[in-house]
Amino acid sequence: MTGASAGIGATFARALAGKGANLVLTARRADRLTALSDELRAAGDGINVTTVSADLGDPNAPDAILAAAADAGPVDILVNNAGYGLPGFFTESGWADHREFLEVMVTSYVRLTHALLPAMVERGFGRIIQVSSVAGLTPGSAGHTLYGPAKAFLVSFAQSIAAECEGTGVHSTALCPGFTYTEFHDVNGTRKLVSLLPKRMFMAAEPVVEGAIEAVDRGHVVYVPGAWNKFVVGVAKALPRPWAAQMMKEQSAKFRRRKSA
Ligand SMILES: NC(=O)c1ccc[n+]([C@@H]2O[C@H](COP(=O)([O-])OP(=O)(O)OC[C@H]3O[C@@H](n4cnc5c(N)ncnc54)[C@H](OP(=O)(O)O)[C@@H]3O)[C@@H](O)[C@H]2O)c1
Repeated sequence: MTGASAGIGATFARALAGKGANLVLTARRADRLTALSDELRAAGDGINVTTVSADLGDPNAPDAILAAAADAGPVDILVNNAGYGLPGFFTESGWADHREFLEVMVTSYVRLTHALLPAMVERGFGRIIQVSSVAGLTPGSAGHTLYGPAKAFLVSFAQSIAAECEGTGVHSTALCPGFTYTEFHDVNGTRKLVSLLPKRMFMAAEPVVEGAIEAVDRGHVVYVPGAWNKFVVGVAKALPRPWAAQMMKEQSAKFRRRKSA
């Protein structure tokens, strides 16, 4: 489980611990991981929880996580979830920031999947959830430039893995949440702006996670939680592409600004 120290990842950890799963939890904040593992061990029925403090912006981090996972035993469920948003327009961030963003949001997901998938196929059982976003199913926006493309990649990646794993017992799902109450918008400094949005656009992390666990078990390849998010994705699909792109341009002008604006 990547990104386990907060939000959707911590919620996945609690949900899977509740089902008796042993866990390998990773994120940068070691104190958060320790607190969560203490909580889960105390509540759980003798489950094992391993924590790995690692920065997925570092290309070597997945190897450290994989080594800890190997010591903990076979991995049946992989939840690639770590993520953040990089506000502003494309050229307002330096290459180091974009490179790190792609490392966390794309490369780490692919690397962990590549390493863990073969043993899942061999054992005839596996569940892989790539935490994407509604942004991966809608046109690109001005601002947060690489976020949508990274999430669209994960949708397509989950679909390819699902196609390749048909009949093996391994299920691959892209989870595509919309606005979810977590620390995400505090971390990227957009909390004040998104709090202007109607409450119906937001979901708690618990139903997002519960729905995703059920969806991957059932073999749903793309899972969009919540009626509002399904509506948004449905509209984006139904509209002619130039109209959908225009709508996204207008909305992102309101909510995804230049850093300098
Ligand atoms: N919240 C939303 O509205 C929303 C909507 C759609 C999709 N999502 C997606 O859901 C996923 C989880 O986000 P969230 O909403 O739960 O946000 P969150 O509460 O801010 O949690 C993000 C998690 O990612 C970890 N993380 C961030 N950068 C990392 C790095 N460089 N290395 C390792 N771990 C890192 C954080 O841990 P540390 O800081 O301790 O490293 C934290 O555990 C993300 O992929 C996000 O894109 C969120």
